[in-house]
Amino acid sequence: MSVRVLVGAQWGDEGKGKIVDYLMHDAHVVARFGGGPNAGHTVVIAGKKTILHHIPSGVLHPGTLCLLGNGVVIDTDIFRDEIKRLEQGGVDCDGRVFVSPRAHLILRTHRLLDRIAEEARGDRAIGTTGKGIGPTYGDKVLRRGVRVGDLEELEALADRVREEVQEINRIVVGRYGHDPVSMEEVLEEARESRRALAGRVADVGEMLRERIRRGDDVLLEGAQGTLLDLDHGTYPYATSSSAIAGGACTGCGLGPTLIDEVWGVAKAYVTRVGNGPFPTELIGEEGARLREIGAEYGSTTGRPRRCGWFDGVAARYATDVNGLTALAITKLDVLTGIDPLKLCVAYEIDGHETTTFPDSAARLARATPVYQTMPGWKKSISDARRLEDLPEEAMRYVERLAELSACPVAIISIGAGREETIAEFGRIDSIPGRS
Ligand code: IMP
Repeated sequence: MSVRVLVGAQWGDEGKGKIVDYLMHDAHVVARFGGGPNAGHTVVIAGKKTILHHIPSGVLHPGTLCLLGNGVVIDTDIFRDEIKRLEQGGVDCDGRVFVSPRAHLILRTHRLLDRIAEEARGDRAIGTTGKGIGPTYGDKVLRRGVRVGDLEELEALADRVREEVQEINRIVVGRYGHDPVSMEEVLEEARESRRALAGRVADVGEMLRERIRRGDDVLLEGAQGTLLDLDHGTYPYATSSSAIAGGACTGCGLGPTLIDEVWGVAKAYVTRVGNGPFPTELIGEEGARLREIGAEYGSTTGRPRRCGWFDGVAARYATDVNGLTALAITKLDVLTGIDPLKLCVAYEIDGHETTTFPDSAARLARATPVYQTMPGWKKSISDARRLEDLPEEAMRYVERLAELSACPVAIISIGAGREETIAEFGRIDSIPGRS
């Protein structure tokens, strides 16, 4: 029996969907613990691509119990469409996809506020996905949000919605000069949500705890990434939820002592969507080349992703903040043909060299990367299935990623397909200790 948490070790889009799907062959239960439809987890099986925004990526393994914990925010339209698409594709979701009654609902008021607040920020825009994430978590913290469980009590729900719409309209009309949101439309949306979630609401926390007591293998699937975490990411250029491993406990209702392993997923380079500092970003041709070869366009918004060299300082930070016990490196194949390769081993900030990740976005914006150069490889690695199949240079590169991250690399992904994976757990060891 094991309880594993899997998180993104960078700014999201690390390829978590594929790794969750890969690790699911020995898990009975998979649960999302944070974020909402801002996530877009891509899984490719037998050449068929599925993008999941709400449902955990493990759903494609028949019989797996798929849960959405209290830390998730739900857009029921997207949730319902996703179930419909999965079922049309032959994936049976009945009796195995459940949402926590404690999860909060994303309403049209949240989506509107997300959009108009971003417009008003102008040059200082965060670059959100526009899915209403920030305003929904904001209402949760202010204790006026609408939870999935509130849909049970339509009368009390009407009061909650009235309060919510009045508050939001004060901002929407007063501050942004926008037309008010109609109370009746929001209520209708809430009623529609009730229909969409019928038969799919259950005490997810208790279900998980019960499965753990029974000895089932459980995978807790993170969304976004460490550097987008509300507290530990590059605030305010962050998402509004807890994207680190600790979020799995609060976002599902599990104590930290129940967690056995923490997996981080990192690309062999780095990408970021939206605004905010990114020290190793490649602007110009080199960045464009990575974007094209790596197909680096957002799976939720279609936006081009910013691309850059692997950042060892950020990687080490991700290991520390999450307590990573294993790392999955994705998209190593994208680096084929790039020679030499660069790796960031330290930052220079205000004239001082450091390997500590800065605690403010402003300080990170002043960081200049200190690079190490390594030889690249030319031969395609897409057919590699064992470490021995990799060219010497690719092997050395992965070893260096492990050293810089201070975490063993247990999986290397060399393509989108389930089979394009090298999984030799514990073979590539890290050398702990900060340089
Ligand atoms: P929000 O989560 O929509 O509020 O967006 C806040 C920031 O997080 C923006 O920079 C988004 O581009 C980024 N973001 C949110 N979700 C994801 C994701 O799943 N992958 C990558 N970036 C994301």
